[in-house]
Amino acid sequence: MKKIYKAKVNKIEKVSSSSYFIEIECENPVFVEAGQFISIYCNGLTLRRPFSVYSNNDGKIGILFKERGKGTKYIKSLKVGDDIDIAGPFGNSFDIKNKKALLIGAGIGAAPISYLKTKLDNENIENCFIAGFLNKDEIPKGMEIDKICTDDGSFGEKGSVLNYIGVIINEYKPEVIYACGPHIVLKIISELGEKYGIETQVAMEKVMACGIGVCRGCVIDIKKDGKIINATVCKDGPVFKGNEVVWES
Ligand SMILES: Cc1cc2nc3c(=O)[nH]c(=O)nc-3n(C[C@H](O)[C@H](O)[C@H](O)COP(=O)(O)OP(=O)(O)OC[C@H]3O[C@@H](n4cnc5c(N)ncnc54)[C@H](O)[C@@H]3O)c2cc1C
Ligand code: FES
Repeated sequence: MKKIYKAKVNKIEKVSSSSYFIEIECENPVFVEAGQFISIYCNGLTLRRPFSVYSNNDGKIGILFKERGKGTKYIKSLKVGDDIDIAGPFGNSFDIKNKKALLIGAGIGAAPISYLKTKLDNENIENCFIAGFLNKDEIPKGMEIDKICTDDGSFGEKGSVLNYIGVIINEYKPEVIYACGPHIVLKIISELGEKYGIETQVAMEKVMACGIGVCRGCVIDIKKDGKIINATVCKDGPVFKGNEVVWES
C-alpha cells in the first residue's frame, strides 16, 4: 500500500559542487531501514521521483540528491517550511549481518551506504566505508567516510573505487560487502564477491514509474533455485544479493 505523507522541508542545503541535502519532517515520525527509498511528488509531474534515504533522525527523513531534470530542479527550489508530498518508505532493505563489513558507495550511491554505516555503528558492527567521487568538490560535506577515492586524484586515492577493492578485500578481509553505485560498479563488486567467496548485497537503481511493483517497468532478471525469474527493483529490491543478479554487460 502506498503511504503518502504531508510533510514540510526542515532543511535544504548544497553539500557539494553537485549535490544537495534535504531534510523532510512529516506530521508523524517516519522510520526507514537502510536501503529503502521514498518517492517525491514534484509539482505537476505525473511520476513521483525515487530517492534512497540518507538519514533518519528523530523520524525526519534526509536525502542527498543531484539535479538531473525537472523533478530534481523542483526539489532544489524548495525552501525551509515549504510543503512537500512524499510516499514510502518503499522496497526492501540491506539485510544487516553481525559480520565484518566492507561498505562501498560510488557517487550519489554513497548516500544509502552512509545511512547503512550509521546503523552498523549503532549496533557496534565492525565496518569500513570506502567511497568514490569524480573530484574533491563532489564529496558531500559531513559524510563520514573511512577511505575516499577521486577519479582525478584531487583527494584521497587517485582513480575509481574499483581499483582498490581487491587490495582492501585482501587486507581488511570483510565477511560481507554492501554496495550502491552505477550498474558497472555493482556488477564488478558482485563478481569480486563471488571470486573471494564473500556475500555481496547491492542496492540497484532503475528508472521507475509506479514505484510499488505494479507497472513492471523496473524488472530485472535474477537467479533463484536454478531458474531465472523476474524481480522488480522497486518492490522486490532495491537490494539484491550480487550473486543472484543476472548482470547485463
Ligand atoms: C531506488 C532509487 C534510489 C535513488 N536514489 C537517489 C538518490 O539518493 N539521490 C539521487 O540524486 N538520485 C537517486 N535516484 C535517481 C533519481 O530518482 C533520479 O535522478 C530522478 O528521478 C531524476 O528525476 P528528474 O525529474 O530530475 O530527471 P528526469 O527528467 O526524469 O531525468 C533526467 C535524467 O536522469 C535520469 N534518470 C531518471 N530517473 C532515473 C533513475 N531512477 N535512476 C537513474 N537515472 C534516472 C534520466 O535517464 C535522465 O538522463 C534513485 C533512483 C532509484 C530508482
Ligand atoms: S516501477 Fe512499477 S513495478 Fe517497479
